Amino acid sequence: MNKDLKIIATPDMRSARDRRKKPIELVYPEIEVSHALREFARGKTFYLRTYGCQANVRDSENLAGLLEYAGFTYTNILEKADVIFLNTCAIRENAEDKVFGEIGSLKALKVENPNLIIGLGGCMPQQEHVVTSVKTKYPQVDIVFGTHNIHKILDLMTTVIEEKTRVIDVESIQGSVIETPLVRRLDDKKAYVNIIYGCDKFCTYCIVPYTRGRERSRTKADIIAECQILIDAGYQEITLLGQNVNAYGKDRPAEGDFADLLREVAKLGIPRLRFVTSHPWDFTSQMIDVIASYPNIMKAIHLPVQSGSDEILRRMGRRYSREHYLKLVAEMRAKIPDIAITTDIIVGFPGETKEQFEETLTLVDAVHYDGAFTFIYSPRMGTPAAKMIDDVTAEEKHERYERLIQHTEASTTASSLKMVGGTYAVLVDGVSKRNKNRLSGYTENGKLVHFVGEPALVGQIVQVKIIDSKVYSLQGEYVRA
Ligand code: 5AD
Ligand code: SF4
Repeated sequence: MNKDLKIIATPDMRSARDRRKKPIELVYPEIEVSHALREFARGKTFYLRTYGCQANVRDSENLAGLLEYAGFTYTNILEKADVIFLNTCAIRENAEDKVFGEIGSLKALKVENPNLIIGLGGCMPQQEHVVTSVKTKYPQVDIVFGTHNIHKILDLMTTVIEEKTRVIDVESIQGSVIETPLVRRLDDKKAYVNIIYGCDKFCTYCIVPYTRGRERSRTKADIIAECQILIDAGYQEITLLGQNVNAYGKDRPAEGDFADLLREVAKLGIPRLRFVTSHPWDFTSQMIDVIASYPNIMKAIHLPVQSGSDEILRRMGRRYSREHYLKLVAEMRAKIPDIAITTDIIVGFPGETKEQFEETLTLVDAVHYDGAFTFIYSPRMGTPAAKMIDDVTAEEKHERYERLIQHTEASTTASSLKMVGGTYAVLVDGVSKRNKNRLSGYTENGKLVHFVGEPALVGQIVQVKIIDSKVYSLQGEYVRA
């Protein structure tokens, strides 16, 4: 195991919070592979595990692109890999616990193969306490990097190989827009395209503005170029990505706003266009109009509400009221009658009273969500909410969580049940592991459908009649064209 440690940069929350507006640098890095790394990579494999959100999945595609460029080949067998990367998530404590467990179990592999390189990247190492822990308690980790310097990973690997040292390079900066030229897509029909990085909202419970830096948009030309490459390669679905897609262009006014961008991408003619995530605060009527007018923009909006109580929303720093949210939903439903609305909800925010929690339940019932992700509040070190007094017991939080799920599941079930008997377009994702003729895919409104059909249909958009519904999936019958 490498005992020496080279520290290039370590994170600190204070600089991560800095939002003094400076011009955002656009970086088109030139990627070079050192002789030492190319020799090392010959005949060697890498394994890459991704935790968390779509932004991490897309980052992993760049990481994989870089590793392949250096000469490594991908393996899905952890035990056989010569290089292991974990691309991590910091959103809740349980996400972090899983990763620490995994690092712990990698120690044995490192003993068996001392040349194994283990890298830890993503949102977790953007936090001081994680880096401190890895430095002292997990000597099996050779490279610690963050969300801002994925494009430098080959240089960091060279350092490990040439200098026989561990290396830590995690910058806490507002961030640039880095156009990494190398990408290895994980799917050949559905793709993620970043449009805006970072977050400036600083919701009081959330670690993301610290781990991913300032809101910064890519240029429209770079986004369109990436989408066009995907369309030319036969992709069926593009999902535009950002912590807040609605904030697109605010830092780059010459590019127009999210409504303009959505319209331009839709016009390229990709069969299915999606976007995540939308913040209710800056969702404009123009954006709703664009979604309504292009058939290839999927009628599905993920609109996290977090709470139904004005007081909790205020303390969360969400910058909208319950009334504003309900008005926005009403406008969406009026202009787009078949719109599917999904959400994220947190229960047990510090000091949440029974009454405030009940307001979340009445909001869930009023909106008739098509799906919901529900979470118990998890304190994140360094965020304002972590310092708030919390007098709600863990037991009470769990009880509220269970009650919330009853309401969100009732709503999701009702929305699925309405589809039974109808025929819907499904983009076929894949075949079941157990039965080659059992296929699954997603409807335009984002529901998972299982049905019987030939494996040749994978990657196509087909018509499926819905015959039954469960809470989290639908059962269908393939309708031959
Ligand atoms: N605790 C629990 N849930 C959280 N989320 C973000 N931060 C926290 C936290 N500290 C949830 C929010 C967000 C989703 C991605 O994760 O609901 O929308
Ligand atoms: Fe976190 Fe709020 Fe930003 Fe979403 S909008 S990433 S919840 S700070």
